[in-house]
Amino acid sequence: MSPGSSAAHRAAAPAGRTRPSPEAFGPGKVILLGEHAVVYGHPALAVPLTLGVTARGTPAARCSLTGLPDLTLAQRRMLDTAFDTVAEATGRPPLRIALASTLPVSMGLGSSAALAVAVSRLLLSASGARASPGKVLALALRMEETFHGTPSGVDHTVSAHGTPLLYRRPVPGRPGRVRRVRIGARATLVLALAGPRRGTQETVGALRRRAVRWPERYGRLFREMGRLAVEGTEALEAGDLESLGDAMNVNHGLLAAAGVSSPALDGAVAALRRAGALGAKLTGAGGDGGAVVALFRKAPPSRVLDETGLVVLTSELEPHR
Ligand code: PMV
Repeated sequence: MSPGSSAAHRAAAPAGRTRPSPEAFGPGKVILLGEHAVVYGHPALAVPLTLGVTARGTPAARCSLTGLPDLTLAQRRMLDTAFDTVAEATGRPPLRIALASTLPVSMGLGSSAALAVAVSRLLLSASGARASPGKVLALALRMEETFHGTPSGVDHTVSAHGTPLLYRRPVPGRPGRVRRVRIGARATLVLALAGPRRGTQETVGALRRRAVRWPERYGRLFREMGRLAVEGTEALEAGDLESLGDAMNVNHGLLAAAGVSSPALDGAVAALRRAGALGAKLTGAGGDGGAVVALFRKAPPSRVLDETGLVVLTSELEPHR
């Protein structure tokens, strides 16, 4: 995934020429290791995607938001509420903001965080403030809280930084930690879409009820997922893709044990492993659908992917120079 493509507020044109519309981009993300455990303060490894959400502003009488015609009525209402919060916080700059997305919505690829980052960046720039990472993160979190209740913050943090991160949220008595991760070897990620799913909040809430009822059992699973995220990060930095792939396979088993996989997700994982993946697992909240991420040393031929019968997207992991 090519980091660095995450932000854009175009410079003002010289006087006398038409000013280009200001725009901002928020990349989607894919969690390679540690989703769900990250909610409980364990680390997660996530990388940005080149796919994402663009927010483009045109001068208008009032501050408003348009675009994304495929949202359901409930999603549209939630988006309007989230937008209202951040528009108010930035003094409602007179801009009509149009959204365009290359990410599938509600599939575990961070579409809501990408949107929150793009909109927050654009509103901050339009209000005359510097869209510093800290300000973008704080504003985008307010939108994410409307979408997901109490998110761990991994999605919008990776989107705002636009770089692979090992992320740990703050928990009472221990500060959070965000560490930039260096990619040690080129690889291809194949993302398979396993169908619609319920919302993140619902899946996280159902798992929380089990974890509260049986804290020892689920605590052990979450701790192990966090360890895999650290080991997988070390493997990625060392260019040991086989070890990273193995950590992903084990992580999928633990997510299934925690009850957040489904026949469609397990089927996609199995098909991608048969297609030669070094590792494959569900990514994001999972539940009854969503996405699977598979790690390949290099992109498999399209014939091989076609044979899986899955709807797939591919994205590259590029080593930093
Ligand atoms: O909303 P999703 O599918 O991208 O999942 C986010 C990852 C979780 O760990 C399941 C939730 C969170 O807040 O981190």
